[in-house]
Parts: sequence; C-alpha cells; structure tokens
Amino acid sequence: MTSPPASLLLLLLPALAAAADVVSLDGARWTVRNANGSVRVPATVPGGVYTDLRAAGVLSSDFFFGHNDELYRWVSYDNWTYELTFEVDESLLRRRHAQVVLHGADTVAEVWLNGQRLGGVENMFVRYALAATGALRAGANRLAVNFTAAPVEARRRYEAYRLAHGYAVPPECVPDDYHGECHANHLRKMQASFSWDWGPAFPSEGLWKSVALEAFDAAVVRDVIVRFAEPAGEQGASLHVRAFLELGPGAAPLEGTLAATLQLPQGPARASAQVQLSPDARGHAVADLTVTGFDEPPRWWPNGEGEQTLLPLTVSFTSGGESSEVTRRIAYRTIELVQDPVTETPEFREHLNVSENDINYGSTEKGLTFYFRVNGRPIFAKGSNWIPVNVLPELGGDPAHVRYLLESARDTHTNMVRVWGGGVYESDLFYELADEMGILIWQDLMFACSMYPADEAFLALVQEEVEQQVRRLQAHASVALWAGNNENEGALVDNWYGTGANFQQYKSDYVNLYANTIRPLVLELDPTRDYVVSSPSNGLETDKEGYVSTNPGNALYGDVHYYDYVADGWNADTYRRPRFASEYGFQSMPALATLRSAVANASELAVESELMASRNHHPDGYSEMALLAAKRLPLPDDWRSPQRFDAFIYLTQIYQAVATQTQTEHYRRLRSQLLASGEGLCMGALYWQLNDLWQAPTWASIDSAGRWKPLQYLAGEFFAPQMASAYVDTAHRVHVWALNDRPEPVDGVVLQARPGRWDALPEAGWQNVSDVFTLAAAGSQHVLTADVAPWLASLRGCEAAAERCFVLLRLLAVADAVPLGPERAVLPVAPRLAQGLEPADIQVASVSGPGADGALEVALRTDRPAPFVWLEAGAWEGRFSRNAFLLADGAASVRFLPRAGAAAPSAAQLRAALTVTSVAAQAVTRTAAGGEQRGRTNVYGAPN
Ligand SMILES: *[C@@H]1O[C@H](CO)[C@@H](O)[C@H](O)[C@H]1NC(C)=O
Ligand SMILES: *[C@@H]1O[C@H](CO)[C@@H](O)[C@H](O)[C@H]1NC(C)=O
Ligand SMILES: *[C@@H]1O[C@H](CO)[C@@H](O)[C@H](O)[C@H]1NC(C)=O
Ligand SMILES: *[C@@H]1O[C@H](CO)[C@@H](O)[C@H](O)[C@H]1NC(C)=O
Ligand SMILES: *[C@@H]1O[C@H](CO)[C@@H](O)[C@H](O)[C@H]1NC(C)=O
Repeated sequence: MTSPPASLLLLLLPALAAAADVVSLDGARWTVRNANGSVRVPATVPGGVYTDLRAAGVLSSDFFFGHNDELYRWVSYDNWTYELTFEVDESLLRRRHAQVVLHGADTVAEVWLNGQRLGGVENMFVRYALAATGALRAGANRLAVNFTAAPVEARRRYEAYRLAHGYAVPPECVPDDYHGECHANHLRKMQASFSWDWGPAFPSEGLWKSVALEAFDAAVVRDVIVRFAEPAGEQGASLHVRAFLELGPGAAPLEGTLAATLQLPQGPARASAQVQLSPDARGHAVADLTVTGFDEPPRWWPNGEGEQTLLPLTVSFTSGGESSEVTRRIAYRTIELVQDPVTETPEFREHLNVSENDINYGSTEKGLTFYFRVNGRPIFAKGSNWIPVNVLPELGGDPAHVRYLLESARDTHTNMVRVWGGGVYESDLFYELADEMGILIWQDLMFACSMYPADEAFLALVQEEVEQQVRRLQAHASVALWAGNNENEGALVDNWYGTGANFQQYKSDYVNLYANTIRPLVLELDPTRDYVVSSPSNGLETDKEGYVSTNPGNALYGDVHYYDYVADGWNADTYRRPRFASEYGFQSMPALATLRSAVANASELAVESELMASRNHHPDGYSEMALLAAKRLPLPDDWRSPQRFDAFIYLTQIYQAVATQTQTEHYRRLRSQLLASGEGLCMGALYWQLNDLWQAPTWASIDSAGRWKPLQYLAGEFFAPQMASAYVDTAHRVHVWALNDRPEPVDGVVLQARPGRWDALPEAGWQNVSDVFTLAAAGSQHVLTADVAPWLASLRGCEAAAERCFVLLRLLAVADAVPLGPERAVLPVAPRLAQGLEPADIQVASVSGPGADGALEVALRTDRPAPFVWLEAGAWEGRFSRNAFLLADGAASVRFLPRAGAAAPSAAQLRAALTVTSVAAQAVTRTAAGGEQRGRTNVYGAPN
C-alpha cells in the first residue's frame, strides 16, 4: 500500500482515531441481595432495589397500592449489595487508565472490584469515576456495590454531626402525618424520598443511573459549557466553548486537538486548536476554543414568544490517535434576571410599558423589579412547579411520562417550570425536551425545607455536586436561573425548626453553604445566568443584607411563596401583590379512576377510610379542603360520608381550579400596575404543583395517572397570551382587565359581554361593553369597573337580579371579528348562593369519530345553562378539548383526544364510559352517557 501524502494523513487523522473504550455495564445482568442473604434477586442497572424486588415478585403489588409505602419500608432499612460479573478484553488492560464510572448511585455505598475497594460514594447527584487500573483483570471481573440503609445512615450522620459540633441540624423529623423518615437533610439524596406533604416515603437504594467501564490512553471529554457572543463589527457571531476533560488521577500534561463543529442553518461552523491539558491532582483539565465568524443564528424563544431553534454542537478531543467527543444541542439567546430600582429606571418602564403616569411615587421604598428578559424582551413567566416524576429516582426519567407532562405544560401556555429543590436534578431528556418546547427552567439546587450541615466534608460533597450539575446543564437554552434552595431562608428567619436560640450558628452555616460555597461556583461556571440564594428570596436585596434578610417575604423584592387555606380563594382581594409568585396553590383530590388503583376494596373510597386518612399528609388537609370548597360550592354537610366521596372529589377540584385561576389572573393584572405601597409589576406566576407521584390529595393539576384535573384545563385559559380577565370584589363590583403578553399592541379591540340567566337558555348575543381601544403590548390594562348588579341589568340577557345571572366576557379584534383568547365566565355570586341555578338536564347527544387525528367528538345538549361542566372518560386516558367550563347554550361540542400510546376507545366505548358532572346551587348532578348507570343521577342534592 502506498502511503498517502502527509497533508492528507493529517486531515484523515480525526476520522481514524479510535474512541476511548466505554464498556456499558448496564442491563438486567446484575444481582442484588440484602445484608443477611435471605433475599437475592436479579437486578437491573439503571435501577433501584424497590424496582428490582417488585420485578422479582418479592414485593407483590404496586408501590403505591394501599399502605405499601409503609409495608415496604423494611426494604429501606436493609443494606443491599449490587453485584455483576463481566468480561474484560485483554486489550483494554493495555490502556493507560481505566475507571469504573457510576453516573448515579443512591446514595451511600462502597464500590469493590475483584475484592479491592475502589472507593466510597455518598451523593446521588454526583457522578463517581473510580480508578480501576490496578484491580481490573482480563476475563471475568466481579463488581460489587454495597449500600447502607438510607434512614439508618441519615440518623448516624445526624448523631455524629451533633456530637462533633455540639448542636443538631434540624428538623428532628418530618410531621407524623407524613408517615415518613427523619434526617434526609444529612444525605445528599432526593429529599422527598423520605416523604413530603404530597408524597410517600420510599427511601431508595441502588444504581439509578448508568454504570460504565471507561479505558483510555488520552482523555475523555465529559462536559462542555458554552457562551455565544453577538456579532461585533465585521467579525460575525462567535461561540466560546469550554470542555471539561478527565485524564485519570496523577495523569501527566497532555497535548491534543480540541475541535468543535456547530451546525447552523446555513451550514457548519468549525474550529480546532492544539491545546495543552494540565490536569489537576484528580486528573481533571479544561480546554477552551472559540468558533468565530458565523452569521447570527436564529434566536431561541420561550414558548409563545417565537421559534425554538436548536443548533447541534460536537466537541472532540483527539490525542495520540485516540478521540473522545460529546454532542449537545445549544441555542442562541440571551437571558437576564432584571432587578432594577423601581423608581429609577425609565428603561425598565419602557420595557414593561408602564407610563410615567402609572407610576405612583407615594411611599419611599419601592424595591426592585424581578423579571426575566429573553433576547431583550421582558417575559411574564407562566407555569408551575415540578416535583420528581417518581419518588423512585430510577423511574423518574421515564421518557413517555416526562414528555407527556412537559407537553401538558406547553399546551397550556407554560413558558416556565420550576424544578423544585426537594427532588432531583432532572434527566438530560427533561432539559432536552424543555429546550425543544421553549419551557424555561427555574432550577433550584437540591436543598429544601431544612437546615443543612456545613462542615468541611458536607461542603466538599456539595461543591462536587454543584460543579457537575452546572456543567451538565449549562448548555441547555431552557435553564433560566439557579436558585440555592427551597424555602430554607424563610425557615431560618421564621424559626420553623427551633433554630432561634442558636440563630447565629445556623445563619453562619446557611451563609457558608449557599453564599460562600455554592454561589461563587455557580457564577464562575455559568456567567450567563443569575443565582438567587433561596426561593423565595428578596433577590439582590437579600444579597445586600448578607444573604439572610430580615423579611424574606417582602413583596417589593424577589419572589414570594404564598398559601392561605382559610381565606376565600375565589376573592382576588385576599392575595398578596409580589413581584414574582413562584409558588401558590390549593389541595384537591385526584380523579376517582386514579384513586381506584390504590384500593383493594371500594369501601376505602371515603374520606374517613383509614387509607384515605393516611394519604393526606397535609395536617387537617381534608377539613381545609372542605372549609374552602364550602365557601363557594354546595358542599354537602355530610361530605365525610362514603356516599359523598364523588361530590367531594369534584368540588375540591373545582374549588382548586377557580382559586388558582383567580390568583393567577390577579398576578397577571399586576403586570403593569405599581401601587402606592410600591407593590405591583408582577412578572411571574408559577403555581404549585404540576405533577403528582401517587394517588393522594395534593396540590397537583395533573394526577399521578396523568389525568388532568380541572385546574390543568383552566390553566390553558388563564395563561392565554391575550385575554379578558375579570373578578368581582367584596363590594360586588366587577373589574375587567385586558391582558397581553405579546410584544405587539393590537389596535381596535373591544370588550364584549354575553349575559345569561341560570333558569333559561340565553337568547342575547355578544354585546360591546367598552369603547374600542388599543390593547397595549406586553402589559395589563384596566378596561372597566362597575357595580355588578346595575351593570348586568343594563345589558341584554339578564333581566333579573344579578344572583340569577352569569356573564361571559371576551376581547374581540373588531376589524376581522376575531376573539382574542378564551371566553371568561364571571359568576356574580358564589354558585351555592345563585338563584335559579337548578340542576341542568345535560344529555350526551352523540359521540362520533375517531377522525383522522384520532379525536372523538362529543355533542352535549342541555335544557339550561350549567357551570363547571366536567367530562370524564372513565378509565380511558386522554384529554378533552375543553373541560370544567360554563355550558351556556343548548348545545356544545367537545373533542376527546386519546393519550398517545394509550388504548383509544371507539365512539361506543367512549360513550359507555363518559360521565358529565355539573354543579347547581344545592346539588351536584352527573349524567352517564351509556352503560348501566345511563341517565342522570344526583351525586348530591335533590333533582329539580
Ligand atoms: C434477614 O433479613 C430479613 C430482612 O431484613 C429479615 O426479615 C430476616 O429476619 C433476617 N434473617 C435472619 C436470619 O436474620
Ligand atoms: C448495614 O450496615 C451497617 C454499616 O455497616 C451496619 O451497622 C448495619 O447493622 C447493617 N444493617 C443490616 C440490616 O445488616
Ligand atoms: C460493604 O462491604 C464491606 C466489605 O465486605 C464491608 O466492610 C462493609 O461493612 C460493607 N458495607 C455495608 C454498608 O454493608
Ligand atoms: C410598548 O407598547 C408600544 C405601544 O403599544 C409598542 O410599540 C412597544 O413595542 C411596546 N414595547 C415593548 C417593549 O413591548
Ligand atoms: C370490603 O369492605 C367491606 C367493609 O369493610 C367488607 O364488608 C367486604 O367484605 C370487603 N370486600 C372485600 C372483597 O374484601
């Protein structure tokens, strides 16, 4: 063979380079056994001991069935050892360095290869690369990972810390209602795995992410962080890439080629450079590269603001004929958290479209703004909070479920989700999908509702965790903000856990952890994003006050979490006026069909059953739900009785949905308002909580089976980018606002109303109730305030007392007669006080389809208007095009779209399963379209 010319050889080199050897040790070829060897079953990696024991039949029923959370607790008190025998080719032993990489181990364990200890692991959020060169053999190798029982280890660490430092790190334990375990704060583990007020304790053990054997002569590229620079003069845009490489402990400096290829719409942009790696003692090195001179790529926008253009990036390191590479999809966009003094920034006023006249300088302290600006455009953050997808971390990355939840959020106008600090840093897939869907991620670091240790060992563990997680996630366009913890500043300042007597100690630990250790790390690794020390916090004001503020709940700064289980949540006047509402919500029941999967006997489907009592971890949760629902809805006096369970579920769901709607619209209306108190200019509404992990009363809008509660449907309306928003205050005045999140104004808009009486089908049509106005860009504007009774009386359609009426509102673009956003139903009085609101006779006239898109069409008929009409498809999974709505006319049509991947019903099957529930002043009625229950039943109350 003739040798090619040297120049050609150089060009060919990267292609010829052999990759670093990565041997996957994943799969169903492991075994797991307990400490005394009485249980030994096949195991799968990635996985966990609960999942393995369930697969082997040792755990005989579903994790979330009955009292299994407690019956299966023994698993978490045993020590479990994972073992694998695997073959190694002799050639692999000739590589300079070999390491066993545990991408995620939950949590405290030792790792052994052929009887030799490779090291210990103690943080489930850290990837461990353990040097294996000396221990590895050609042929059969035996890998063992022996875990320590998490609750036992947590208690041991708690005691040890107390002895060593002379004070305990609280809380002592979770409340009794949680049926949980204590001292999760002493383990770097999903904090919710020891239980939460919405979730069970399953203190897992196992290898929840992949395990691999890596062998190489040069280096592996582990992570890349990126930063675009906008075009400067003739230079074009550029991309700075920093690669993080591993060479193995004690490795010598190494020269090689770092190369990057960025795929742009117009073609690839490339760069490469000779780099000298100077590894630290652990064998870690960084190398930098800049891809320059390309045309500005299309920008990435949040959901509802524009396209989400993603740009594939490949980064490789080649040395001595060996190459390692990673690929990411990155995006071109800027993001800022804007915290400007409210009174001093005309620039901000312009962006928020607040005129000088709207600013009231009445009091002295005005605080700071708190909002996100993406590509220079202020964004009102709309969405929810995300809890772990599954309490068992190995099941939390389920691609179909993660996609389903994010799509549900996207389809209801969500542009931001907060990954809450008591769960896990989510899977790569989660962030990839968020990138694709334009869902910004408020990323808490995983600390929640506790004090935390702050000795050297703990800080070192956290340091490694934060470095790895920030490097892993930094390149994702969706990530918007880093937040140090969930509610720990509030817990400290408000003395939730009895820390008051030793406040200075706990404060100093707090500052050491979140401000002195984490903050500089995050800001150094990711200069493209902000870091707030806690959520909620006062943002920059908290920083200024030494990272612990005297009043963390100050509405003039930062974000606020807000819950009230006593006040009437359908009254907007009860809510606070923060800059950014990052948590707020109400409990409700999951669907009956979902609860059924948790019970053996229908007799348990009652509020007072032992099972249902144990499922509500929120102290007095049922009483609170009842108290709240009864303020507005016809809650039966005997709501605790088994016969009322159905009605209780429905009424708590409706209460939750409307209360959250009321609160969310209140925040949105505050977008352009600045009150004399300095409050207002709210720029975010993230309700608590999107998802659920078991069948229980919780704050979720989607239950654990994926069924949308009424709240999820209403979110699709109250988050609409343009809409009429209305509320009736305590003085019986109706206030209507126009909301517009889009950056353009709309000329020629009118507010229209369509009143109706409860006791007859409406005859009147839409009527203009405002002058024609320009819907301002990116803001909220007041349209009308009126005493509700005379106002209604002045319109066609409600020739009766306001108590007998309802009114639908909408914005209409006059020129093309196009409605802007959804119709907003306004009830002048609570349904339970409405007059003439008798049970409607709602019939399912027909069910047809499915059509080409798989959707079925349901035609409804009614003899009178009905509020909160709620369609359910029995056990069938899917969603309706509209639900929990006011059925105003004699006929309506709703589409049912079966869930992707789930069994789809025929028209006859859907009809047989379909129920339609609605509320009357003193009744809840339900129509079953087919099957044995066919006809109308009174779930509660007398028929008319
Ligand atoms: C072995 O461990 C299991 C589970 O923890 C326990 O139930 C059993 O009693 C133990 N057996 C012996 C012989 O100690
Ligand atoms: C688990 O391991 C710990 C630490 O080695 C030990 O103290 C404990 O007794 C073990 N538990 C069981 C059930 O064997
Ligand atoms: C893990 O195995 C080693 C060696 O057998 C033993 O010394 C250690 O106590 C074990 N740890 C646990 C938690 O079982
Ligand atoms: C503010 O409103 C004006 C007029 O409605 C519009 O032209 C402008 O684009 C808006 N500015 C922003 C930043 O949205
Ligand atoms: C269900 O519970 C009721 C009441 O406790 C009991 O009478 C009945 O036998 C149970 N049914 C089954 C199938 O266990």
